[in-house]
Amino acid sequence: MREKKVGVWLVGALGSIATTVIVGALSLGRGLAEPTGMITATEAFDGLGLAPLDGLEFGGCDLRRGGLRDAARHVMRETGVLSYEILDELDEPLTGIEEDILMGTARNCGEAIERLAASPVTHDRTARQEIETVRRQFRDFKKKKSLDELVVVNLASTEPPLVLQDAHLETDAFERALDRNEPGVVKASTIYAYAAVQEGCPYINFTPSSGALIPAVIGLAGRRGVPVMGNDGKTGETLVKSALAPLFQCRNLDVLSWEGFNILGNMDGCVLDHPENKESKIKSKDQVLSKILGYPLHSRVHIHYVPSLDDQKTAWDFIHFRGFLGSKMSLQFIWQGYDSLLAAPLILDLVRLVELAKRRGEGGLMPHLASYFKAPLGVEEHRLYEQFQMLLRYAQAVRA
Ligand SMILES: NC(=O)c1ccc[n+]([C@@H]2O[C@H](COP(=O)([O-])OP(=O)(O)OC[C@H]3O[C@@H](n4cnc5c(N)ncnc54)[C@H](O)[C@@H]3O)[C@@H](O)[C@H]2O)c1
Repeated sequence: MREKKVGVWLVGALGSIATTVIVGALSLGRGLAEPTGMITATEAFDGLGLAPLDGLEFGGCDLRRGGLRDAARHVMRETGVLSYEILDELDEPLTGIEEDILMGTARNCGEAIERLAASPVTHDRTARQEIETVRRQFRDFKKKKSLDELVVVNLASTEPPLVLQDAHLETDAFERALDRNEPGVVKASTIYAYAAVQEGCPYINFTPSSGALIPAVIGLAGRRGVPVMGNDGKTGETLVKSALAPLFQCRNLDVLSWEGFNILGNMDGCVLDHPENKESKIKSKDQVLSKILGYPLHSRVHIHYVPSLDDQKTAWDFIHFRGFLGSKMSLQFIWQGYDSLLAAPLILDLVRLVELAKRRGEGGLMPHLASYFKAPLGVEEHRLYEQFQMLLRYAQAVRA
């Protein structure tokens, strides 16, 4: 039997993570790298029939113009990973993928993102027209590459938060708002997510942008049997938090304060330096602790842009806690990592897992993928270990 051909459409295709995903998959497919960091490459996922990495076809959209090869060289300069010999070897496939990176939409994305766009952002088209264009891009790509499945992943810059209105709650109400062409109801992330679900494409929101998986889109995904999941990939500080916070519970220690300071230097950091974009990120990072500990605490997340750091992110967390006889003690940790290299293997995992879910007839939110997200939709469990067990149980059930 012919293996299913799977495509991956990356929104924000010239960004650091998207470029690392593509370079990573091509390198793995050619045996030039190891799948370290990918959970689906471990024994627990053997025999599930996951899509092979060397068969994935990549395309996508961005607001900037520029070549994927230049983007790859930029990421590699910033991280020092992969040699120029390897990049030279990938030159040909990267050039091929470049042809399938089209222009996206910046609708209601705010000034920080509009500034990235190659040409001035105009508002002469309706949201419905933009949805139709994106749907056509998906269909054309599927046809061009003879794909059986296309997974759409949002890796675009973080938008300012969407204020949820009645029109976002139900698909019919959302359709009526589109008919009325109401301004402000739709952000770019909503357009991509809605277009994906309409086309039956599994969809992942790796960003904190709340405009993407609105209830109307999730509801439609459930009814149409389309797997969707988000929000905001859990790759660094929040990953450590979700592993460490249960420790205090296990010893009945009261966490009094948890202050997290993040400094980062890439374009993501530059966009997040904008207050309204930063708000989205802080919201999704913020809820983890009180949900795990079960009580409110003094906890703040600080994010600062330090250009010279490039793709490296440093998080310093100070945890103040109280123990026996009221004694006050503290724990501090420093996490240093390359953002894109932490994120890319998770995207490859997620692509394979939502494609598998679609083949199994599953639709709507995917709770077993909670461990991949800072703010997993529809899941109250925030402890990393328990979330990971949910994923392993799912893999076991698929095999059974
Ligand atoms: N790196 C991590 O560890 C991590 C973790 C969780 C979430 N994220 C989120 O993932 C996203 C991508 O991160 P990155 O480091 O690759 O950022 P990046 O700034 O390098 O790339 C984002 C890309 O998206 C493009 N873009 C912006 N708005 C767009 C739109 N409306 N349509 C199409 N393209 C658009 C930009 O031009 C840019 O090329 C960010 O939202 C970030 O907050 C990153």
